[in-house]
Amino acid sequence: MISLDEAFRKFKSRLELNEREQTNASKRHTEVREYIRTKFAIQRDFLTGSYARHTKTKPLKDIDIFFVLSASETEKYHSQPPSKVLEDFHKVLVDKYGEAAVRKQGRSINVDFGVVVDADDNTDYRVLSVDVVPAVSAGSDYEIPNNDTGKWMKTNPEIHAGKARDAHQAFSSEWKGLVRMAKYWNNNPKHGADKPVKPSFLIEVMALECLHGGWQGRFDYEVQTLFSSLADRIKDEWKDPAGLGSPISDGMDDARKERAYQMLVAASREASNAIHLARKGQNTEALKAWRQLFGPKFPLS
Ligand SMILES: Nc1ncnc2c1ncn2[C@@H]1O[C@H](COP(=O)(O)OP(=O)(O)OP(=O)(O)O)[C@@H](O)[C@H]1O
Ligand SMILES: [Mg+2]
Repeated sequence: MISLDEAFRKFKSRLELNEREQTNASKRHTEVREYIRTKFAIQRDFLTGSYARHTKTKPLKDIDIFFVLSASETEKYHSQPPSKVLEDFHKVLVDKYGEAAVRKQGRSINVDFGVVVDADDNTDYRVLSVDVVPAVSAGSDYEIPNNDTGKWMKTNPEIHAGKARDAHQAFSSEWKGLVRMAKYWNNNPKHGADKPVKPSFLIEVMALECLHGGWQGRFDYEVQTLFSSLADRIKDEWKDPAGLGSPISDGMDDARKERAYQMLVAASREASNAIHLARKGQNTEALKAWRQLFGPKFPLS
């Protein structure tokens, strides 16, 4: 029978990008990048967000692609409300991918490739969607359109990537794996259509502070402690770790924070129960409890 440690390692590796997924992701984002470059004057485009930082969970979706506008496009768009550049990007993407596949979001345009996710959260190694993010340079930072506030918002993906890298290193290279697990829990369909924590980037931001004291060597304990710390601090204000954009915790109102709190407390309790089952020697039951908590990518064997 598989041990708990082996199960967690398998779970962790299932949440990592494999070669086939990378190949498909690369094909998809390259196509979108090449297309956008034929429609707008782009100074530079690159992958950002959790995909670029290796904190993206499964099923693989919403790969962020940053498009830094050239000086001329910046002059055209930056003085206008954020909705304008988003509308124009939306229109161009609809021309290629069709109305049904393209969706305007707060700060990006989502392009969906119509991939179906099976009951085990597998997608036959295909990427579900990408997020196209128009941006302008602002010194060493960037500004992106934010339709939720009606203003352009400062951001800096390099700073976020640096913080994640440092945290990972300080946690014996287990930090990103744990972040992916917590984000996978957040995606678990048992929570219904609304994820407990929104945006899921908030989990990563909180983990910068909530995973501390160094890796203690056991996934089950680390996960339990993480859920418990996330619950304790989910109602706090969480600023952009780069000190530039709007608070990451602004994605939830008080009612939604209360709901997230309750669900995190429940998760921490479920984790304690699973640990207890293993301690009593009920390994099969413990594995089932972890799978119930996380979802189908947690292995039973
Ligand atoms: N409020 C904010 N202020 C500044 N930068 C932000 C803010 N929110 C998000 N970002 C940046 O934009 C990136 C993309 O945002 P997004 O919501 O897609 O998060 P993500 O980290 O990619 O997580 P997910 O796995 O859910 O896609 C973030 O990774 C972060 O670098
Ligand atoms: Mg993202």
